[in-house]
Amino acid sequence: MRHYCIVGNHKMNVSEYEHSLEPERKKRFVNTMTKAVREGHTIVLCPTSVRIEHIADVVNGTGVALGAQNCHWENSGAYTGEVSPSMLAEMGCTWVIVGHSERRRDQCETDELIGRKASAALTNGLRPIICIGESIEQRRRGKTIDVLNKQIDGILSACGRLVFDASVIAYEPVWAIGTGLSATTEQIEEAHLAIRESCRERGILDTPILYGGSVSADNSDEILSCQHVSGALVGGASLSSDNFSSIVESAIRCANA
Ligand code: 13P
Repeated sequence: MRHYCIVGNHKMNVSEYEHSLEPERKKRFVNTMTKAVREGHTIVLCPTSVRIEHIADVVNGTGVALGAQNCHWENSGAYTGEVSPSMLAEMGCTWVIVGHSERRRDQCETDELIGRKASAALTNGLRPIICIGESIEQRRRGKTIDVLNKQIDGILSACGRLVFDASVIAYEPVWAIGTGLSATTEQIEEAHLAIRESCRERGILDTPILYGGSVSADNSDEILSCQHVSGALVGGASLSSDNFSSIVESAIRCANA
């Protein structure tokens, strides 16, 4: 039986289930999360930092884990506007996303910096979700695999094999994020296989590889059925109680298929 890891990245949004839901929808959400965790799947919700305690209340008792969308590489200091991994751990987080393409784009995060963040996260008890992925131009030029390898090498040289080994990788093609245009199963299989092979060549053996980019209730079955896909990093669809429940139900279904 496969065990999936389904992560909801709320980005800078407030999810629907933080408000009062109709009892039936709330019941479905809570029951689905509880069942998935009981069956050995890992479900993580990553709200914006100021909503972490709020989401903790919403998922209390379900076994859903809490994550953040970013952390600093230091635990304290003169870093205005930043949140440290130890502070996140204190709030109950056990996961953190590092290197999301939106932060690479808007905050100019480099692979080296992402590696340092992953390392600091793990030291503080947070499991890093390391994001990698190519732009549409890079894909059109046939450079996808080169770009993924370069990102892996840059992060790896900053954090070392042991940190990478203990992390989760999220393959998120930049062009598939928020566009409603997910990668095809062929593209996902090809990229995930290449990532798996590069990891093996570098001595990283079992790191799960998630897919992210327009995952929805309509395509989650086929994405989660792909051979090297260990789960999904879900953006927009994680904001809706019904959509996220459907994706988690899909994981339960695919695991038993
Ligand atoms: P969407 O699911 O909205 O495409 O976002 C994917 C993502 O960036 C998750 O980190």
